Amino acid sequence: MRFELTAFSLARRRSTTELRPQSDNNDTERAPMRQVPSARPDTRRSPTPPADARAPLAPALPPPACRCTIPTSMPMPTPMPVPSANPLPDDEAHLWIARLDDLRDPALLAAYADLLADDEAEACARYRLPERRHEHLVTRALVRTVLSRYAGDVPPRAWRFTANAYGRPEIAGPAAGGALRFNLSNTRGLVVCLVARGREVGVDVEAVDRAARCLDVADHYFAPPEVAALRALPPAAQPERFLTYWTLKESYIKARGMGLSLPLERFAFVLDPARPDSIAIEIDPALGDHPDRWQFRTLRYRHSHTIATAVERRSDDRAPIRVVARETVPLVG
Ligand SMILES: CC(C)(COP(=O)(O)OP(=O)(O)OC[C@H]1O[C@@H](n2cnc3c(N)ncnc32)[C@H](O)[C@@H]1OP(=O)(O)O)[C@@H](O)C(=O)NCCC(=O)NCCS
Repeated sequence: MRFELTAFSLARRRSTTELRPQSDNNDTERAPMRQVPSARPDTRRSPTPPADARAPLAPALPPPACRCTIPTSMPMPTPMPVPSANPLPDDEAHLWIARLDDLRDPALLAAYADLLADDEAEACARYRLPERRHEHLVTRALVRTVLSRYAGDVPPRAWRFTANAYGRPEIAGPAAGGALRFNLSNTRGLVVCLVARGREVGVDVEAVDRAARCLDVADHYFAPPEVAALRALPPAAQPERFLTYWTLKESYIKARGMGLSLPLERFAFVLDPARPDSIAIEIDPALGDHPDRWQFRTLRYRHSHTIATAVERRSDDRAPIRVVARETVPLVG
């Protein structure tokens, strides 16, 4: 499997954590760091940050030599000239991972709020639970800053979105984002955004403790071959396999953009534990799709989350699509 793992380090104080792929591949790649310019000052929706949060903070540090380092405190984003875009080769998909617990700095959250379109801010305000509001805010900031990485002349606040008939958010403008495709997933503790150029993508993240009562849920939602494979495993191995199926199934229906209108029992994943980079799918022809059209990957993020990605393959693809995973702090790096 070709999950390639990278993290940024941007704050003065850091903790180090290694990302754990579910495969045996431990390739790492240093991500080029860039800062996304902060949006225009606008305090209409922003909470007033405490005085200490407004104090000037140290500029971001360059990526460290060690790998997979994450910040534990957030510096204020430093306004910078619009940087050039990150490369996103045709044969890659980039998975950006934001840890919600690292994103609590009031000044940073105020900067995120400033990126939102009015309808996004209104949707955010409708969440009663502060944790859900926080998750929604970070999700919006993540997708806006990630997209701007690949369209350097588009500031994060400029993106406009629409939704397809099944609710999948898609880019409505500016035109510079035309070929970019993205998908989002959020769960307790983590928000992820998968992006590619000119191919459909889907992503799902779930916390590993969601695997309780997994056989009951599998009986209800999974395809018969998946249920049989799950039940054939020793009980101790079932929760992990359950989450793998679950996230893969979600990644597929999200890549199709059709949500739960695709019957979950009409497609089945076939896993070979000896070859984690070989994830096959069998699809009922009635769903109007072909298994060769998709490439799937799974990733165990730390010990806490499972992530699955679905990336569309094209007939001219000669090699697997590289899926590169990176941690990020929106607006910081
Ligand atoms: C809505 C759905 C697409 C994803 O729901 P989810 O797993 O609860 O949530 P996730 O965090 O993974 O994804 C939510 C994001 O997907 C995106 N999304 C919404 N509708 C989508 C669609 N039709 N296609 C692709 N992506 C969609 C949105 O960006 C959304 O986040 P946002 O509202 O903050 O923008 C749909 O799959 C669903 O309702 N699933 C319910 C869970 C379930 O029963 N799963 C069974 C798996 S076996």
